[in-house]
Amino acid sequence: MRAVVKAAAERGIEIRDDWREPEAGPGEVLIQVAAASLCGTDRELYEWSASAQAFALDLPAVLGHEGSGTVIGLGEGVTSFKIGDRVAMESHLVCGECHACRSGSAHTCERTRILGMHIDGVFAERVAVPADICVLLPEQVSLETGALLEGAGVAMHAIQRSGYAVAGQNVLINGCGPVGLVIAKLALVLGAANVVAVEPNPFRQQQARALGVTVLHPQDDVAAMCREIAGTRGGFDVAFEVSGVRGVLPPLFEALRREATLVTIGHPGEPAAIDIAQWINKKGITLRGIYGRRLWESWDQLLLLVQSERLTLDWLVTHRLPLEQADEAIDLLSGDAGKVLLVPGLASS
Ligand SMILES: NC(=O)c1ccc[n+]([C@@H]2O[C@H](COP(=O)([O-])OP(=O)(O)OC[C@H]3O[C@@H](n4cnc5c(N)ncnc54)[C@H](O)[C@@H]3O)[C@@H](O)[C@H]2O)c1
Ligand SMILES: [Zn+2]
Ligand SMILES: [Zn+2]
Repeated sequence: MRAVVKAAAERGIEIRDDWREPEAGPGEVLIQVAAASLCGTDRELYEWSASAQAFALDLPAVLGHEGSGTVIGLGEGVTSFKIGDRVAMESHLVCGECHACRSGSAHTCERTRILGMHIDGVFAERVAVPADICVLLPEQVSLETGALLEGAGVAMHAIQRSGYAVAGQNVLINGCGPVGLVIAKLALVLGAANVVAVEPNPFRQQQARALGVTVLHPQDDVAAMCREIAGTRGGFDVAFEVSGVRGVLPPLFEALRREATLVTIGHPGEPAAIDIAQWINKKGITLRGIYGRRLWESWDQLLLLVQSERLTLDWLVTHRLPLEQADEAIDLLSGDAGKVLLVPGLASS
């Protein structure tokens, strides 16, 4: 079958037509992939950056960790799905045995393996995965939306990690990539009073504005502008750092009121300095971070919002390409794009 493969520990990918057909082993399902979504991690894996190398891939591996499809085969012992079910996939394979897994924090499992890194992923016509990571799509949810749920689940987790501190509040979002945009959309859906986002890329600024967000540029005086909007409250109630860019934390801390919450989602490539005395002790700001999705609370909450049509995600998609154009899809990530999808059934252009 056709698949996008990371074959060796070096820059680049291979588009293969002779990749071995996957089979559903015990506890696994075989899925006909409908759509797969790319994210910054795929670009890192393509470039073979230091952060990509840190994932310690089992090479060669089919890439792709965000996807959806239809169940076409059941391995031994699988009773939770049937042929024809439409599913999305959690990308983190957790052990179920460590302390984190056994105490309700499987998203921090110390033995996490990742789809498209440690087992063959979804940039392929078919994929075999543990039934445990599949999530049944409600009837109203399209397969294309299904492919966006893994990434959107990160945004959902960020909102959950803030203590849902968005309803009726002033919300600041730093970075309007797909994850930041979904946080903005969720904040609005959940009733935020004001959502301000900081983003330098004009295309993404426009995507944020279309949601009803007030957009600032990183070179603006973000802290002063937020404090002005907040008036006597003294600053914004909650901030989300979703750029992963270094040096962006100071204006966020400055923009927040006392006893506010800052949630970090972006992974800066190096340690960041934090003024503990001023921001954490005297200002009382709670700093929290997230990794992946809470299993399974983030999926459960996200599906409820999507199913009830309070939250739509299709507006995120700007490009759809066949598997053989995977190089081009990765290039698009650095340009004017929202979510880029690889659709195995699509004819190449
Ligand atoms: N914690 C997790 O589990 C998790 C999961 C997924 C992604 N991430 C990370 O979250 C971040 C966002 O993911 P994404 O897919 O939306 O990435 P992305 O790279 O598409 O988005 C980042 C955005 O930040 C903008 N930006 C650049 N400089 C900025 C600045 N100085 N101030 C504000 N914005 C700036 C960029 O223009 C871009 O639109 C990345 O760092 C990614 O690695 C973390
Ligand atoms: Zn991803
Ligand atoms: Zn575990």
